Amino acid sequence: MILIEKLKLDDVLETKNLLKITWNDTYKKWLSPKTIQKVTSHWHKTAALIAQANDPNVYFAIAKTETNKIVGLVTLKKIDDKTTFLNRLYIHPNHQRKGLGSQLFAKAMQAFPGTKRVQIEVEELNKNAIRFYSKLGFTEIERKEDKVLDEVMDVIVMEREVF
Ligand SMILES: CC(C)(COP(=O)(O)OP(=O)(O)OC[C@H]1O[C@@H](n2cnc3c(N)ncnc32)[C@H](O)[C@@H]1OP(=O)(O)O)[C@@H](O)C(=O)NCCC(=O)NCCS
Repeated sequence: MILIEKLKLDDVLETKNLLKITWNDTYKKWLSPKTIQKVTSHWHKTAALIAQANDPNVYFAIAKTETNKIVGLVTLKKIDDKTTFLNRLYIHPNHQRKGLGSQLFAKAMQAFPGTKRVQIEVEELNKNAIRFYSKLGFTEIERKEDKVLDEVMDVIVMEREVF
């Protein structure tokens, strides 16, 4: 059984750790250790995560196991009345491919009723995530370069209707 709930202050440190583990596992093939270290220490600062959790235009949720371990997270931002953007969807490496990403995504889609579409940006090299988003019904709308601190990555912008 997995419980999906909004991020609370008490969960922030464990959530930061989950981000560190999944970022390392996912991006070590393409980004330098220095960049990953900087991202996990700057972008995922406690204050930044708390501000996002308190932002009414952001839905920030975590997935907990029966033993209260945080194994997944999602961050969805409302861009305008019609559009949301999925900033983060991360599942702990030991818990991937068990349906958790799909469950977190489905829950996030209930956060902003009335919105019509959701967008994501995924690195061209991240084939597993592209397969995942394609399975969820996302299609490519654009390709562009994205700066991750000093490194540049090619990303695909994908979009899906919200029903
Ligand atoms: C991508 C990610 C969010 C998917 O979540 P998940 O819980 O592992 O995926 P699910 O079990 O819900 O998968 C649903 C479907 O997506 C596809 N899929 C998911 N992971 C896949 C993989 N590694 N390879 C191929 N297809 C995959 C499959 O069709 C799968 O259905 P199936 O298992 O019945 O074949 C998760 O694996 C993850 O956190 N990866 C690392 C971080 C990352 O890349 N995040 C996205 C950044 S943009």
